[in-house]
Amino acid sequence: MIKLEHVDKYYGSFHVLKDISFEVGKGEFLSIVGRSGSGKSTLLNIIGGMDKAESGKVIVDNEDISSYSDDKLTLYRRRKVGFIFQFFNLLPNITVFENISMPLILNNIMDEEKVKNFIKLVGLEGKEKSFPFQLSGGEQQRVAIARALIHSPEIILADEPTGSLDSETGAMIMELICGLMRNLGKTIIIVTHESYIAQYAGRIITIKDGIIYK
Ligand SMILES: Nc1ncnc2c1ncn2[C@@H]1O[C@H](COP(=O)(O)OP(=O)(O)OP(=O)(O)O)[C@@H](O)[C@H]1O
Ligand SMILES: [Mg+2]
Repeated sequence: MIKLEHVDKYYGSFHVLKDISFEVGKGEFLSIVGRSGSGKSTLLNIIGGMDKAESGKVIVDNEDISSYSDDKLTLYRRRKVGFIFQFFNLLPNITVFENISMPLILNNIMDEEKVKNFIKLVGLEGKEKSFPFQLSGGEQQRVAIARALIHSPEIILADEPTGSLDSETGAMIMELICGLMRNLGKTIIIVTHESYIAQYAGRIITIKDGIIYK
């Protein structure tokens, strides 16, 4: 499903990712752990088409996305990938319902029933008309999870999805993510520095100073 071959990334003269190669199978749940500054977010952003590597290949479904034009990369992000972030990244001026609808609208496949179903699935019934600031952190992350999944992307990328939640809420969010993934058969990569979060994954790889240890 996802294959990285000798990926190198620099910020100026700083070599942030060093000759990274690994594969993630379809339907696999992989966790990437490593200390702050080790390159986890950079790596996830390259897989998600939000950032580009200087060299190496990023092959997704037999296509090398590192050779994509910006327009093609935008379509890749929009259709194939669902993102979950530490600070939720919801649009502040629109409702829960509208936030979750966004990927469907962007892909021209708006379906109100589907949005309602996902609101139910993540346990947010009754909150449809709320704005993000009216929700708790855990509720905001539920919105983000529904938004990440609604357009049926094949890949889910989560960068510290529990990083701004207390451990109890974080565990509930992980249970929700795992339950949904099991049912939907998605490929998921979670970046975290907390080992108890990584334990939810089927496989864990470690990154240290831009080098992968499998
Ligand atoms: N846009 C940028 N320009 C310059 N340096 C950057 C940029 N983004 C990240 N870096 C540097 O690259 C290194 C890796 O950053 P990255 O965000 O990937 O780390 P991380 O493992 O996700 O850390 P954290 O756990 O704190 O989120 C850091 O030293 C960071 O300062
Ligand atoms: Mg990070």
